[in-house]
Amino acid sequence: MSVLDILERMEYGPAPEVRSQADAWLDAHKSTFRLFIGGKWRAAKSGTSFATHNPADGKKLATLSQAGQADVNAAVKAARSAQAQWVALGSHGRARYLYALARLVQKHARLLAVLETLDNGKTVRETRDIDVPLVARHFYHHAGWAQLLAAEFPGQQPVGVVGQVIPWNFPLLMLAWKIAPALAAGNTVVLKPAEYTSLTALLFAEICVEAGLPGGVVNIVTGDGCTGAMIVEHKDIDKIAFTGSTEVGRKIRQATAGSGKKLSLELGGKSPFIVFEDADLDSAVEGVVDAIWFNQGQVCCAGSRLLVQEGIADRMLQKLRARMAKLRVGNPLDKTMDMGAIVDPVQKKRISELVEVGLAEGAEIWQSAEALPEQGCFYPPTLLTGVEASATVAREEIFGPVLVSMTFRTPPEAVALANNTSYGLAASIWSENINLALDVAPRIKAGVVWINCTNQFDAAVGFGGYRDSGFGREGGREGMYEYLKPVAEFSGSISRPAAKPATATAGSPRDLPAIDRTAKLYIGGKQARPDGGYSLAVYGPAGDLLGQVGAGNRKDIRNAVEAARKATAWSGATTHNRAQVIYYIAENLAARAGEFRGRIRDMTGASVRTAAREVEAAVARLFSYGAWADKFDGAVHSPPLRGVTLAMNEPLGVIGLACPDEVPLLGLVSLLAPAIAMGNRVVVIPSPVYPLAATDFYQVLETSDVPAGVVNIVTGGRDDLMKTLAEHDEVNAIWYEGSAEGSEMIERASARDLKQTWVNYGHARNWHDTTQAEGREFLRRATQVKNIWIPYGE
Ligand code: NAI
Repeated sequence: MSVLDILERMEYGPAPEVRSQADAWLDAHKSTFRLFIGGKWRAAKSGTSFATHNPADGKKLATLSQAGQADVNAAVKAARSAQAQWVALGSHGRARYLYALARLVQKHARLLAVLETLDNGKTVRETRDIDVPLVARHFYHHAGWAQLLAAEFPGQQPVGVVGQVIPWNFPLLMLAWKIAPALAAGNTVVLKPAEYTSLTALLFAEICVEAGLPGGVVNIVTGDGCTGAMIVEHKDIDKIAFTGSTEVGRKIRQATAGSGKKLSLELGGKSPFIVFEDADLDSAVEGVVDAIWFNQGQVCCAGSRLLVQEGIADRMLQKLRARMAKLRVGNPLDKTMDMGAIVDPVQKKRISELVEVGLAEGAEIWQSAEALPEQGCFYPPTLLTGVEASATVAREEIFGPVLVSMTFRTPPEAVALANNTSYGLAASIWSENINLALDVAPRIKAGVVWINCTNQFDAAVGFGGYRDSGFGREGGREGMYEYLKPVAEFSGSISRPAAKPATATAGSPRDLPAIDRTAKLYIGGKQARPDGGYSLAVYGPAGDLLGQVGAGNRKDIRNAVEAARKATAWSGATTHNRAQVIYYIAENLAARAGEFRGRIRDMTGASVRTAAREVEAAVARLFSYGAWADKFDGAVHSPPLRGVTLAMNEPLGVIGLACPDEVPLLGLVSLLAPAIAMGNRVVVIPSPVYPLAATDFYQVLETSDVPAGVVNIVTGGRDDLMKTLAEHDEVNAIWYEGSAEGSEMIERASARDLKQTWVNYGHARNWHDTTQAEGREFLRRATQVKNIWIPYGE
């Protein structure tokens, strides 16, 4: 073939990456692998094994061990015995090891990249240029957090032993996202890679040995979902970090309910890719390629829903089809390929089936005519148009190279369509009008928003979502908190309340003393009669009847949530405005101090001094959160791109609060104030034993310019009412101070829509101690970080 021929045809020649080094590594292990426990390779006691294949040609690569219960027990034991020493090593010592791991990842970069491509089917271009460099970056960044731990995370300690279960789409990268922060914080880990893609995790275990990492700090057990479940359910594990499907995420929430295990879940998504009519269309088309055909679309944050403004839709789709026609799908080791293989025939079948459903529901399909390889597990880049917002393919995660396209007319319609999903992981916004893009970004329900870019990741920038996309963040400062816990958390004692919980009034009205009115509920800024019309009698410690409160039921909770949901203006109010309202509440509470002192004494039998101390502490706490309201700022990250990432602390939305019995007024204020300071609206269930401090509080709220619906108070049985809140779709988070059983109930009930929960497992705080009852921990729990990526330049 002459040079002229080549120039005329302009075809790619083959450019295969050499695989001999990876084959040599497999040969050296006779393609058979054991488990990495306590720094040693051990045969699985289970005696069972499974095979891993190369999805690009279907050939077997290796035999892996299936870890059983005895193996998981051994790994957890090894991690437990290594943890104290790992902590004792100190920040600098741990930083040195993480730095060594980063260096060794770079040294073995080529082997890691090729092995990942062989095992997963993704192109070597991606493993070489994206996965492996990000892995090294993650270890470097977290070597830094290890070094700075004491200075940057005062009052925090490691969680202990962490169980980590990861998926197959970014096998080594997910390992790095899990292991680096865990180790930096002083934890030890038991990690299970996905059954399709364990090889780079096993090579990483060798890298740990090469780095001289103490045995037991990192343990790698291979196996399927059963092994994963054994880790999740293990009694001696303190935290579970999971990335994978929403379905398994839900199971894990259920399985860990009430166990006290800390939990972070990074689950699926159906992320919108929004193109406004003033977007640079050629850039946007390249963006779509990166959004949905990167890693064959097997990306949790893939921009799988293309939303295009109507006026440019035809032009955009025309350009997109032209670009799709040029995408090359084939041997992932060939450096000229755009797309490689789907991880496994099971996944390919799932993709095909979902596309069939899309067609049956009326979508039109476009696929490039470019031939796919005859062998191996490949699926072409696919575009579905004419898709209704309610169609299955517009709602369900396809997890393959399939883009669904819809149109919108106005920015509010774009926001509504973008948010019309149960997920909340990521979004991409394309417009040359930065004002429009920055206006839309905070309105999108997603943990990450990319403006005029997509699928950007960096170790310094937190990643994670909400709702069906899970909770918790990975990367950055917020990611470190997932592996830490406060040193001072629960040192109070659960006081046996002096009085009994308010009870249904059995007697007729004439049995009731004429001393008090029946306090109603407080919903939407008004005092409201309970739906059922029943009330509960409140008795003092000596059995004397103090008054009555409304017996709230499910309907009252629904009304309260509805009122809270509508009060969205509070979340958009300025921080100065929120601070002023909270100070005003403090002022009005202080003005009624005597009344509240008396009430606390009557209800609890406390001394004058104790009651006065509680009221004073409640006023001070309100001052603290008035102060915090305009000071709990986000951050501006500088990831390695020309641009910035804004890490914004956003309110969660509607929070259900269950107040403790110990200090009826201070407990109420300690939960309510940080929640509303950060822009949330709340539905409060006061202590059922001492509800009258809360019902008296209505008048304080009414005189303090608190907008209607921001604070709603429903008296009644704590656990019954909280269960309704935990199951309610429009409630975004639950904070629960009550019993161990109640805590378990809350975690279980919230599994359906994966609400964020914060429960006390029956432990008591010392509410007078500001280190455990006030401050940043509460503010962090009241917010979620949204990272908005903004590149610079034309
Ligand atoms: P999966 O969620 O079953 O697997 C992820 C990991 O969880 C694997 O290591 C697996 O062994 C483990 N696992 C499975 N069941 C478990 C259990 N009961 N307890 C503990 N660990 C368990 O995902 P799968 O079946 O591989 O893929 C199915 C679908 O999930 C995909 O089509 C995709 O929609 C979604 N997915 C989403 C991912 C994401 O990053 N968001 C990653 C992988 C899958």
